[in-house]
Amino acid sequence: MDLKEHIREIPDFPKPGILFYDISTLLAHADAWQVTMGRMAKAARQHQPDVIAGIESRGFLVAAPLALKLGCGFIMVRKKGKLPGTTIKHTYELEYGQDTVEIQEGAIEPGQRVMLVDDLLATGGTFAASVELLRKVGAEVAGAACIIELAFLKGRDKIDVPVHALVSYD
Ligand code: PRP
Ligand code: MG
Repeated sequence: MDLKEHIREIPDFPKPGILFYDISTLLAHADAWQVTMGRMAKAARQHQPDVIAGIESRGFLVAAPLALKLGCGFIMVRKKGKLPGTTIKHTYELEYGQDTVEIQEGAIEPGQRVMLVDDLLATGGTFAASVELLRKVGAEVAGAACIIELAFLKGRDKIDVPVHALVSYD
């Protein structure tokens, strides 16, 4: 199955000149979503993860069902200020400004193998920052996986773990 046929392309979103790859149509299609999650599971299994970490917010849509499929726990990498209790933060640079990702203290035990999951890889800033964050809490980041890679942005060059993408756009 060609998953691209189920990913809607929306021009000029969120800004003029940007082509947005919308996974809503993929999620809504029962067979295409089954195939997507089957392929994600195949990629993730190669790294024998203990835990699946999803990146807020669209990454949660992929990571939580993946964790169920693999019989792993699911943990959240969230944007700033969303998680209760003590958190560990990692701040990273954007083209204009900064952003912060957070994880709850104790979410991961040192040495656990983590598969990091998001819906889409663009510049790679989000994945790279999340890898750094996970390492701060002693995780072994075994690999990263996403549905869509915008290959022309060369984001995977920023990520120093194996990266799996189910579809790629040049
Ligand atoms: C999008 C996408 C990835 C990230 C990729 O998330 O879901 O998480 O951007 O970009 P990068 O590789 O350039 O860092 P977004 O921040 O739009 O938020 P959302 O997932 O909450 O919709
Ligand atoms: Mg996102």
